[in-house]
Amino acid sequence: MTTVLVIGAAGKTGRAVTRALTSRGVSVRAAVRSPERSERAYAAGARSISVVDLETGQGLVEAVTDVDGVYHLAPNVHPDEVAIAERVARAAARADLARFVFHSVLHPHDASMPHHLRKAEAEEVVRTYLPGATVLRPAAYHQNLVGAAVAGRLAVPYSLDAPFTNVDLDDVAEAAATVLTRPGHAGLTYDVAGPEVLSVREQAHVATEVLGHPVEAVRMELSEWVAGAGASLTPQARDDLLAMFGAYDRSGLVGDPTTLRRLLGREPGTWAQALVG
Ligand SMILES: NC(=O)c1ccc[n+]([C@@H]2O[C@H](COP(=O)([O-])OP(=O)(O)OC[C@H]3O[C@@H](n4cnc5c(N)ncnc54)[C@H](OP(=O)(O)O)[C@@H]3O)[C@@H](O)[C@H]2O)c1
Repeated sequence: MTTVLVIGAAGKTGRAVTRALTSRGVSVRAAVRSPERSERAYAAGARSISVVDLETGQGLVEAVTDVDGVYHLAPNVHPDEVAIAERVARAAARADLARFVFHSVLHPHDASMPHHLRKAEAEEVVRTYLPGATVLRPAAYHQNLVGAAVAGRLAVPYSLDAPFTNVDLDDVAEAAATVLTRPGHAGLTYDVAGPEVLSVREQAHVATEVLGHPVEAVRMELSEWVAGAGASLTPQARDDLLAMFGAYDRSGLVGDPTTLRRLLGREPGTWAQALVG
């Protein structure tokens, strides 16, 4: 595996995957939405840039030409995620690539979360075009909450006691690099979950100890979230995330860390390690 096209390479996940691949000597071609975002991808180690509009498919054929593999992830809570997956998988199938990996989500078939169901449908679409694709289903990242912990306040609009097996984004990226560069993963689907079950209340306790300053856990009202972080979202993205908070409130998001341990060949990173990492 010498060259991999990373979709969404200027984003949070795409940059982590780019770093993991380049650290193994793989040349990364970064698919970015606009040239202004190229710097972020270059800073993560990308060797070249392809400007791709996932909503129209413009630039995709050129982007998949002369690469050995593709790492595909969808823009967050995108309403057209299934059609995007189809565009990317179709282009990759025509280019006859050695590897294709799709970044899904833990429990994609949970019918209470529309954006999870779109991932399940996207998995199906990818498999239709590329039966040998590998699917990763990551839990929520530790890094989603690190900044808030450092600032001393974990405020979430769901139960503070719901259980989560959050995962370190760099471990997800390392697993991605492994399935892209090593044999034996074609056609397989892997849950990618962290090694400990922690509620937000427990995360706040751990953060208080590790960071050496008080970190409070606060359950915010949904209306407060809607007026704050939710205000800048489209109505559909807001509804998707409200459905997700309802699911988190009922049962958290818990997966089995066994596969990630095997892919990494070591213990996955803990919340405490992410806080100081
Ligand atoms: N966060 C988690 O805990 C978690 C856990 C499991 C799975 N996931 C999944 O991981 C995926 C990626 O999440 P993320 O947090 O890395 O997202 P992100 O930081 O928002 O990155 C998404 C990237 O997609 C690009 N993009 C958006 N629209 C595009 C378009 N029309 N054409 C081309 N590129 C476009 C964005 O470009 P710009 O840079 O120009 O905005 C951005 O760089 C999502 O599908 C999410 O559901 C996330």
